[in-house]
Amino acid sequence: MASLGVVLVAAGRGERLGADVPKAFYELHGRALVEFSIAVITSLPHAGHLVIVAPESHAAATLSIVDAVLPETSSWDVSVVAGGRERHESVRFGLAALGEHVDTVLVHDAARPFASAELFERVIAEVRRTGAGVIPAIAVVDTLKRVDEAGVVRETVDRSTLVAVQTPQGFPRDVLESAHSTAQLHGELPTDDAELVQRDGGTVHTVAGELQAHKLTSPGDLPVLEHFLAANAA
Ligand code: C5P
Repeated sequence: MASLGVVLVAAGRGERLGADVPKAFYELHGRALVEFSIAVITSLPHAGHLVIVAPESHAAATLSIVDAVLPETSSWDVSVVAGGRERHESVRFGLAALGEHVDTVLVHDAARPFASAELFERVIAEVRRTGAGVIPAIAVVDTLKRVDEAGVVRETVDRSTLVAVQTPQGFPRDVLESAHSTAQLHGELPTDDAELVQRDGGTVHTVAGELQAHKLTSPGDLPVLEHFLAANAA
C-alpha cells in the first residue's frame, strides 16, 4: 500500500544560534526542539515512515526521544540515520532510508518545531491532488530594496509576486529522488529541495504557510518560538 514518508532533517550544527548543542537539540522548556516535530508528525493519521536525520553524536538521544513520544499503538515506523555535512546531503541520506511503499515524501526542518498538523495535511493533500511539488508560502511583509555592492539602494522591489517559503515541503517520491540524483551530477547544490525539483524540470505549487512554522536561526528567534509554545499550550 502506498504511504507517506517524512524526512525530518535535524543534523545541522546551528552555528548562527551559538548554542553548545546542535540546533535541533536546543531545549525549550526542557524539551529538545526535534521532539516537537516528532510529536506532530507521528500524530498525523497516516500509516507512514518517519526518518529522522540527526548528528551521529545524537543518534542515541534521538532514539530516546522517539521512545518517549511515540505511542505504542502508533501507525508510524520511525528510523534514525546520520546526517551529512550540508542540508542537501542530510536530505539525500534520509531519502535513501525510506521504506519501499512510500510514494509521497515531505521534507521538514526540525528548526521549525511548531509547524502545525494542519499545515502538514495541507501540503500532503496538495501533493496528492497535483502530482507536483508543494511548499508553504507566506506574504513578505517588509519593504524590499535592491542594493548594489556598496549598499546603496538602486530600486524598490515589487513584493506582490514574492513570498517567503517554509517547510514541510512535499513531493511525489520519484520527483524528489530524481531531482537529488540530477543535482549530484552538477556542482553547487542549493539547500532548498523545491529549487532542486525546479532545476530538474518539475513544477512546484504553493499552499498557505503559517507564522507558527517560524524557523529558529539565531537567538532573536527564541522569543518568537516561546510565544508559539505558550500559544499551543493555551
Ligand atoms: O541551518 P538551517 O537552519 O538552514 O538548517 C535547516 C534544517 O536543516 C535544520 O533543521 C538543520 O538541522 C538541518 N540540517 C541538516 N544537516 C545539515 C545542515 C542542516 O539536517 N548538514
